[in-house]
Amino acid sequence: MGTVYAIANQKGGVGKTTTAVNVAACIAAAGYETLLVDVDPQGNATTGLGIERNGGPGLYGVLGGDLPAQEAARPTAIEHLSLLASTPDLAGATMELPRLPGSETRLRDALSGVRDRYAFTLLDCPPSLGPLTVNALVAADRVIVPVQTEYFALEGLAGLLDTLSLIQRELNPRLTVAGMLLTMHDQRTKLGQDVEREVREHFPQLVFDTVIPRNIRLGEAPSFGRPVIHHDPHCAGSEAYFALAKEVASRG
Ligand SMILES: Nc1ncnc2c1ncn2[C@@H]1O[C@H](COP(=O)(O)OP(=O)(O)OP(=O)(O)O)[C@@H](O)[C@H]1O
Ligand SMILES: [Mg+2]
Repeated sequence: MGTVYAIANQKGGVGKTTTAVNVAACIAAAGYETLLVDVDPQGNATTGLGIERNGGPGLYGVLGGDLPAQEAARPTAIEHLSLLASTPDLAGATMELPRLPGSETRLRDALSGVRDRYAFTLLDCPPSLGPLTVNALVAADRVIVPVQTEYFALEGLAGLLDTLSLIQRELNPRLTVAGMLLTMHDQRTKLGQDVEREVREHFPQLVFDTVIPRNIRLGEAPSFGRPVIHHDPHCAGSEAYFALAKEVASRG
């Protein structure tokens, strides 16, 4: 059975998609069959892998029960990496999901058929705690929480952790926090150093040792439709995501 990771934080623009795409690519590069699921109607993980959002199967049909996940998963340009895409119709899912039977467990049920095909499945969540994120957290074994290293970093994290406990209690007792990940870090600034110290003091044991630096290559890779390790394998961003993938795998 593979392991399912949700990449979640209801705060926008903190590096969820960058983390999902690049950790998935690093794991695939190590030879593991990997599935990336774009759970966000914005579709940034899909376009970031250079995949056309229109005219192919996607997560929407899978959640609706029209399509088995194994038929909807598309191969990518990267060996060992498949994608369950976010097509434009996924925007309607936030409204439609609550009306479907078993609305909170639809993703988990859909993935149960493919879990043994992939050593790792990564779920890129939208910036909200709505029905799509709830589905992802119910389907996941572990959550990775990217935290942007900036002044309001801790804001909202308490709310997110409350939601995680609630889902653990009510819907998914297996769910654990894999770790919080400091992203877009600027080690040279006092603010960067202060925020890192504060987050580590606030959540001892919970913060990954690996820190993702602010890196131009990481920001531009999606516009070329590829993960950073296929864009510039030796840049600081590639090194950081390789280190993170190792740390994630070693935390088991
Ligand atoms: N370490 C980094 N260095 C430089 N740019 C980064 C880094 N991480 C992310 N970015 C850029 O910052 C922006 C936000 O990142 P990303 O899309 O990963 O965040 P997100 O949490 O998925 O956003 P959303 O909440 O909208 O889904 C993107 O333009 C991305 O390319
Ligand atoms: Mg995103």
